[in-house]
Amino acid sequence: MKTVLVTGASSGFGEAICRRLIADGHQVIGAARRAEKLAALAAELGDRFVAVVMDVTDKVSIDQAFETIFQRCPQIDILVNNAGLALGIERAQVASAANWERMIATNVTGLALVTHKVLPHMVAANNGLIINMGSIAGTVPYPGGNVYGATKAFVKQFSLNLRADLAGSKVRVSNIEPGLCSDTEFSMVRLDGNAEAVAALYKDVEAIRPEDIAHTVAWISQLPEHMNVNSIEIMPVAQSYSALTVTRNL
Ligand SMILES: NC(=O)c1ccc[n+]([C@@H]2O[C@H](COP(=O)([O-])OP(=O)(O)OC[C@H]3O[C@@H](n4cnc5c(N)ncnc54)[C@H](OP(=O)(O)O)[C@@H]3O)[C@@H](O)[C@H]2O)c1
Repeated sequence: MKTVLVTGASSGFGEAICRRLIADGHQVIGAARRAEKLAALAAELGDRFVAVVMDVTDKVSIDQAFETIFQRCPQIDILVNNAGLALGIERAQVASAANWERMIATNVTGLALVTHKVLPHMVAANNGLIINMGSIAGTVPYPGGNVYGATKAFVKQFSLNLRADLAGSKVRVSNIEPGLCSDTEFSMVRLDGNAEAVAALYKDVEAIRPEDIAHTVAWISQLPEHMNVNSIEIMPVAQSYSALTVTRNL
């Protein structure tokens, strides 16, 4: 049994990851802002699930959450840095600066600060695995991806740089980079609750599901200690690349 901290546990990937890791026999600490969602998950998952309210954009909230976490579970074996969001699909020149700030605060600063709390303990124990939730948006540029994609490019490079710093230690770092996924709140959040636009996005498309990502996390978690998956990019078969745009007579 391993002790796993999952951020963004209140919906989508995080919730599915908690369910899967509990089913696999682990102890899981699930963190997010919405206490009522975590309480419902705790009622379903039982004693091996510990719910902790944490806003990764708020340093005080992170400090308080980790006081509770370290009291209950002094050694975290696996950190799944999954909390994150995209806000808006507008082109950069008309995008909201507030949305940019929130994406950076959550996906970049929040992920880095949570890692900063856990990493020294993992290194001291010479044991640990950090699984970051990146995105194909960190590699593939697209219109409207601007800051969201850039935050996931941060996650990608941060993961690799951690590997460099962890040379000589047994602590492992992986970056999962999913493409289009359905059945999470991601697109409702991104499109500001526009249910019609969300339905149009997933219409007649068999996208990746949260259980697929949970399966990937479970797979990485049970690999032999000498194996490090640096990154894993996963798309639905229905998603692929298109040609670069060329503007004529510009
Ligand atoms: N769905 C996709 O197509 C897709 C594709 C590639 C990558 N991803 C990435 O996968 C991760 C999970 O996304 P998802 O699809 O599962 O979306 P989701 O259903 O919206 O889940 C996002 C989770 O992050 C938490 N969260 C958001 N802001 C937070 C904050 N300030 N502090 C703590 N927790 C916070 C949310 O909980 P609270 O609101 O309760 O805090 C929620 O549990 C994200 O990092 C996302 O960028 C998603």
